[in-house]
Amino acid sequence: MDNSFPVFESDCHSLLRRHLTRDIFDTLRDCITGSGYTFLQAIQSGIVNQDSSIGVYAGDAESYQLFSELFTPIIADYHGFSTADTHLSHLDPSALKVQNPDPENRYILSTRIRVGRNIDGMPLGPAVSRYQRRVIEEQVVAAVSNLTGKLSGTYFPLSGMDEETQHRLIEDHFLFKEGDRFLDAAGLNRDWPDGRGIFHNTDKTFLLWVNEEDQLRIISMQPGGDIKTVFSRLMTAVSEIEKSIPFLYDQRLGYLTSCPTNLGTAMRASVHIRLPKLAVKRTEMKQITDTYHLQIRGIHGEHSEDESGIYDISNGRRLGVTEVECVQDMYDGVVALIKREEEL
Ligand code: ADP
Ligand code: ARG
Repeated sequence: MDNSFPVFESDCHSLLRRHLTRDIFDTLRDCITGSGYTFLQAIQSGIVNQDSSIGVYAGDAESYQLFSELFTPIIADYHGFSTADTHLSHLDPSALKVQNPDPENRYILSTRIRVGRNIDGMPLGPAVSRYQRRVIEEQVVAAVSNLTGKLSGTYFPLSGMDEETQHRLIEDHFLFKEGDRFLDAAGLNRDWPDGRGIFHNTDKTFLLWVNEEDQLRIISMQPGGDIKTVFSRLMTAVSEIEKSIPFLYDQRLGYLTSCPTNLGTAMRASVHIRLPKLAVKRTEMKQITDTYHLQIRGIHGEHSEDESGIYDISNGRRLGVTEVECVQDMYDGVVALIKREEEL
């Protein structure tokens, strides 16, 4: 790995580029955490991928402290979260003021809410060893095997999964893709597919990804717009799993994740929604999504393009807001989008 100050291309607009001064680089260049994760590894993804929006990954909880001269301004910039702020968690579905925004199923195809979680006492994915990754997999599989009723299901390791099944699960929006170049450069795809897998219940409304970007991605989803049911199911699953797995949580930053964009709630609550009229008025659509702090993605996951007027609309705020507020943002924004779509 090169030890000199990184070269950034003129069209690189990452937060890494914005906040990495020569002074910070010189101070942190030789820093290494207790799990052996170096500062150069933390910034590698943003150097290899000059189109990164952020460009850094943490290898463990300590990265957020040891590399804080760079991570803290990046977190402040991305989340609007200053060193004086403290994250608060609120996981109670009864506090949510939502109804199904589309009871006749005219716009919303499906609703999905996920949280990222990592295990206390383990390094994060970029620094985890092959052995530790397998231990994590075993721990998670043991935890989900205790689930009963509608949450009970089966674990499918990625190793040995036939290509057809893997492809179908990805196409149907249930499974993560393979070979993400941002994760690749961060060391998150080492030993692929060893230790990775997916658990799901029979009707695929509750799913869990193991050892992808975060050690656990806990997911609740179903067709239509019944946001409250999706959130309630997720919260039940999370508290059940937490009975046997201690999650990595920081008093100030909330749930710790490998990518700083997911800190805090580590939650992304989304709908896949058809908005054909707003699709041709993208500026107006963007005004609404900005008002409600929402993010627009394509329906094949992050970095995918929108398809025939169908969008993935989700909360953009994750840190310094509670889980209930994340879902409330998404709900309020979706109500506003549907209202405008109907007016047009
Ligand atoms: P994340 O897991 O961080 O939310 P992605 O944006 O890559 O990351 O989404 C992962 C998968 O979940 C993709 O296949 C995506 O299409 C699917 N997905 C996201 N939101 C929904 C939704 N509301 N309904 C159905 N599938 C969804
Ligand atoms: N590292 C990538 C970038 O900086 C992705 C950031 C957010 N996405 C994520 N999956 N963590 O653009």
